[in-house]
Order: sequence, then structure tokens, then C-alpha cells
Amino acid sequence: MDGTVYLDYAATSAVRPEAVIEAVAAYLRDVGATPGRAGHRRSVEAGRVVLRCRRALAELFGIAGDPGRVTFQPSTTQALNVALRGVLRPGDRVVRTAYDHNAIRRPVAALRAHGVRETVLSGSRAGGIDPDEAARALAGDGAPARLLVLPHASSVLGTVLPVAELAALARERGTLVLLDAAQSAGHLPVRVDELGVDLLAFAGHKGLLGPQGTAGLWVREGVEVEPLLLGGTGGDSSPEGMPAALPDRLEAGTLNGPGIAGLLAGVRWLLGEGIEAVRAREVDLKARLHAGLSATPGVRVLSPAAPEGVGIVTVAAEGTGAHELARRLDREHGVLTRAGLHCAPESHGVLDTRGEGAVRFSIGWATTAAEVDRALDAVAAICAGPAGAARSGHNLQGGSPMEDTA
Ligand SMILES: Cc1ncc(COP(=O)(O)O)c(C=O)c1O
Repeated sequence: MDGTVYLDYAATSAVRPEAVIEAVAAYLRDVGATPGRAGHRRSVEAGRVVLRCRRALAELFGIAGDPGRVTFQPSTTQALNVALRGVLRPGDRVVRTAYDHNAIRRPVAALRAHGVRETVLSGSRAGGIDPDEAARALAGDGAPARLLVLPHASSVLGTVLPVAELAALARERGTLVLLDAAQSAGHLPVRVDELGVDLLAFAGHKGLLGPQGTAGLWVREGVEVEPLLLGGTGGDSSPEGMPAALPDRLEAGTLNGPGIAGLLAGVRWLLGEGIEAVRAREVDLKARLHAGLSATPGVRVLSPAAPEGVGIVTVAAEGTGAHELARRLDREHGVLTRAGLHCAPESHGVLDTRGEGAVRFSIGWATTAAEVDRALDAVAAICAGPAGAARSGHNLQGGSPMEDTA
């Protein structure tokens, strides 16, 4: 693209396949109407695009039933809010983990004020969960938890949780499972039946390569989710209440037609390539990045090598603060990373980096070995020189105004 090395795919896939860009442009140029609202041809075509995208996502996630249970949401954050607030009631207990993004931690904290209790499973530097601790937390004192929330992959460590095993523990106790697949969808196989989850929140704009403003929530047949937003759905307009059936029940307001058209192209691209092929490339590149950073004097690699994980490697550098390192990587070398707490302060607590956070390198579908090598050379050059802080006089604790959004 612009000569930079983009290594912030965990925030969003800023580099997208041409087919995605073309699909957004084609939708805006040739369709442009509101999906599911009017009966005219443009609106009908818009509705077809949306349905094709639900079907493509159902294929990707191994959803055998009604693709209409794949609902579109404007962000993973909203998908998680819909699930948490739509399932949990006063008196319920939710079990979550120390690896959670603020998109889980904050809604759960707000629900505590409404009588929802939470149990947080401890994290470790290796990125695992103790199954005995999980079993005890799920069982409670004779009152099993209503919901287990798991991040499939950690946005800070890049490690992957054993979702199928933990979900089986939950199922034995009648506990529903909500999976946050923001960091795994498009990078790992995510198949709802193999994993045994009941609700799946996913980002459209990260591994699925769609535009920002796309995400979704799938709800298993038989699971009730109260709507978070109330409003127009296009059909069944007379009643005051929201329609009973999905997807309309959870999709008040005009859908993001151009975004969904782009997401459809992204998911089709992934289905065409095959997740396993995309994954094999990312695993090799992550190993190269992890080994190279581990061998760089002055760099402390915080993420485990975790070949079964996703393409995230988070580091701290001796003598150079996280924000300073990311700033110099960008300004001096055109290498784009993300510094800070990555909206997951508890994970940084586990890593002892809760103060200023750390620098996250994250790879994606378009990353090349040459780009990884350029990033490694850049880190080595910065770490070999006098400490950036001392040289530039920058305030290492202040951070940038954009430090911490994903
Ligand atoms: C694990 C995880 N969950 C949720 C989110 C929130 O996603 P979004 O920015 O699409 O709302 C992110 C974003 O980085 C994430 O990494």
C-alpha cells in the first residue's frame, strides 16, 4: 500500500483484499438501498446481499440451522452487550476470564449494579485456564452460573483457550456459553457445534476482512436474548413490541448495507482460500516474528510462542517505553503496531505491564516474511541505540491520545 508495514491486524484489517473494496463500491454504486425495508428492486437486491452474507457466515462457522440466527451488529462490542444484557437477569451469575476485553469486563461491571454476580477465572502468562477452577466457578455453591463468557483468543497474549473443554464443563451444569471470537474468526477454525457454544460474537472488520462497522451475534436455537435496542425492523411494524423472530428481534434500525457487502466479499475470500491455508501462513509468520523478537537484545517477549495461537506477539523493551517504541517504529521505520493496554487491562495485570502496557505486533492475511524482517530490523535498530526516552525527552507515561482503542 503506502510503504508502511501494517502489523496491527488485531485492531482491524486495515489492509483488505481488493474484492472487499470493490464489493463496497459496487454496493454503493449499484444497490445503495435499505435492506429489508421496501419492496422495490433495489431494496430487494440489498436484502439478497444481506442474506448471502448470513449464509456465508453460517458456512464459515458451521451453523447447520437457520442462517437468520446470525444477526448483524455494528461492532463486536455491541454484539457482546446484546448477549450479556439480553441473557443475564438479576440474581444470575456470570463466569468470565482475566483475558477479557473491556467489551466484556465493562458491561459485566455495569450489570453488577443490577444484581448480576460475576466470577473471574484467573489468567496466567501461559494464557491458560485451570479447568478445576473453571469447574468450581461454574458450579458455585449449589447455584450454577447462568453464563460462561470466553475469549477464543487473547488480544494481548495471542493464546487460544480450550473452548470445547470449558464449554463441556458448562453444559454439564446447564450454563450457557458465549464465545468472543473477535480475535479468532478468520484466523482459526471457529465451528459452533465442535466448540459447543450457544452464542457467538464476532468482528467483521478484523480476521473476516470486512469494513469497520461490521460484526455479528449468532444465537443458538432455543436461547432467548432480550433485545438491547428497540425500533424499526421493516416488517411487522404494527405491534409496539419487537418481533419475536430473529434476526429482526436483535436488528433494530437500518443495517450497514455497504459494510455487509464488503464483509460478504471478505468471508467469500476466506472460504475460497480456506481457513487452514490462511492459518498455516500466519503460524509460520508468527513463529518468525516470535523467534526474531526473542533473539533481539533488549526486548522482552511477553506472549508465549503458542504455535496453536493467533498471530499476536506482545513485547516490552528495556529502556524504551511502550508508547515510545511504537511511536519510533512508526515515525522512523514505517512499522505500525499498537502500544498500551489494548482494552484488556486485566491481561496486562497478568503480564505485570498494567502501568504503561506493552507493544503488540499482530499479523494478518497479507503479512509477508519480508515485512516481518523489516519490523525485526526496526526493533533491533531502536533497541541498539540510546534509550528513546532519554534521547527524545518524551513523556513515557503519557501515551498517545489514540493509545488504547482495541
Ligand atoms: C477480544 C476482543 N473482544 C472484543 C473486541 C471489540 O471489538 P470491536 O472493536 O469490533 O467492538 C476486541 C477488539 O479489539 C477484541 O480484541
